[in-house]
Amino acid sequence: MKFKTAILFLLTSSATFAQEVEREIYIQKKYLNFPVQSSRKRQEMTLRQTKTEDRKFVIRLSDGKPDYWVFSDVSDFIGKRIQIAYPEDVKGFHEIYQSDEINGSDSLYREKNRPKFHFTTRRGWINDPNGLLHANGEYHLFYQHNPYERSWENMHWGHAASKDLLHWAELPEALYPDTLGTMFSGSAVVDERNTSGFKTGKNDVIVAAYTAHGRGTEVQCIAYSNDRGRTFTKYAGNPVIDSGEKWNTRNLRDPKIFHHRPSGKWVMALFEKTGISIYHSDNLKEWTYQSHISGFWECPDLFELPVDGNPSNTKWVLYGASGTYLIGTFDGKTFTPETDKLCYVRGNLYAAQTFNHIPEKDGRRIQIGWGNIDQPGMPFNSMMTFPTELTLRSTREGVRMFSEPVREIEQLYGKSYSWKNLTPEEANRQLRAVGGDAFRIQMKVRILDGADFQLSYNGNSLLHYDMNRNNLNGEFYGGSRIETLTFYYDVLIDKTVAEIFADHGRFSLVNPLPSAKNGNGFEFRQGSSEIGIEEIHIHEIRSVWH
Ligand code: FRU
Repeated sequence: MKFKTAILFLLTSSATFAQEVEREIYIQKKYLNFPVQSSRKRQEMTLRQTKTEDRKFVIRLSDGKPDYWVFSDVSDFIGKRIQIAYPEDVKGFHEIYQSDEINGSDSLYREKNRPKFHFTTRRGWINDPNGLLHANGEYHLFYQHNPYERSWENMHWGHAASKDLLHWAELPEALYPDTLGTMFSGSAVVDERNTSGFKTGKNDVIVAAYTAHGRGTEVQCIAYSNDRGRTFTKYAGNPVIDSGEKWNTRNLRDPKIFHHRPSGKWVMALFEKTGISIYHSDNLKEWTYQSHISGFWECPDLFELPVDGNPSNTKWVLYGASGTYLIGTFDGKTFTPETDKLCYVRGNLYAAQTFNHIPEKDGRRIQIGWGNIDQPGMPFNSMMTFPTELTLRSTREGVRMFSEPVREIEQLYGKSYSWKNLTPEEANRQLRAVGGDAFRIQMKVRILDGADFQLSYNGNSLLHYDMNRNNLNGEFYGGSRIETLTFYYDVLIDKTVAEIFADHGRFSLVNPLPSAKNGNGFEFRQGSSEIGIEEIHIHEIRSVWH
């Protein structure tokens, strides 16, 4: 590795000296590894290669022992010389090195708090899922990614692909920040009829719509890929929507695009100001405004679902980032609500999105959300929730949306246990045999006398239902036919997260799982109530990473 170090002295306004440092590196390997120290301030790193746009990001380069290492994929620069520059001469600047392995690859995916069957990224921060799509035989998960720190910043579109919604292969960043801004949330479609004219090869062309977030501006852009999402080209005519003036707001983002078959149009649901606007396009490049509905914030989604599985009776669902939704009709231009705001999920799920272009013979509406869950002490942070299938079902209250884990999870079952008709004492005795740290636990519990019950996991409350206040882990949930006093729960447990699906997905929760207080595993606690455990099924879940 050849490099030279140059130190420039710059006089700052506060009359102190900051030393800008610069190195030239002849790139021969796939990754540049950077040491990070959380106590250092963020400063701008520049990677410059004469023929390409600078790669710029802020990073807390260490000046002592690094807390963890992050990396930038520099395979595009192999065989070239690049200049790297940083505004301060810290130790970490001189420790940046290239390698075909990321620093920490020896323990990758086996780290102590790495969830076993949920998607997390190798390094850095993630939030919203983006561009969820099935194309060319693969599921694509793009996501809001800060590759350079455990916290939100430098938004890129990270990328992972999977054949089965379970095992994800992490791929290079799909979208890097550019002169219009950082890469905020959006979605992707397969342009089957090549309406955009972007298709060049035999693969399905993928077109992504995203928000470029600049200083005080948010504009909508598109990019396309002819190599199965591995690389994207940004459209030269970007931005395709710049509606800031019309709405007099800086809040215009998160385009969800999809193909609306009856009208033959591309539709975009876009968050603008205080709600969701609908736009139309014939070619994904030119968009015309159609309508607006207020009452939503960020990350919209809009889709059609059969009611009770009947394809001749469908409704449309419109939701925003927090997962509150409306059911109604959609004629391709306007969404007309038939309900007030409803809610199917609470807790730490945010900005969920459903997949586009799921093969027709499958036909499911599959959703992944951002699981805003801290991963203590890890070089990565946050996670994706486990994919769920959304359905509309009739209830006594009317039609409601249900969400349940996709059936693919059964492929991950390890050892399984099943018991019927147990007292809590008997259940607790049996549950001692259960080992591991990733589970699915399904149960049917009845309150016999009293008003609540609780299941704990390693000394922390996992599930607490208060039948008097109708609270499930502190969130209001009235239950399904409460007068039966029978409760169904399906719980996924994975290191730092618990996802709880009540009454076959009628209501769900995404909760952080605190670190273990003891090693007792699952225990029913009765308090002053008497309960009966009618059924309990536990499956240990195998890691998707190895
Ligand atoms: C939601 C959100 C989006 C935005 C993105 C930025 O979590 O605020 O509205 O596009 O995150 O990371």
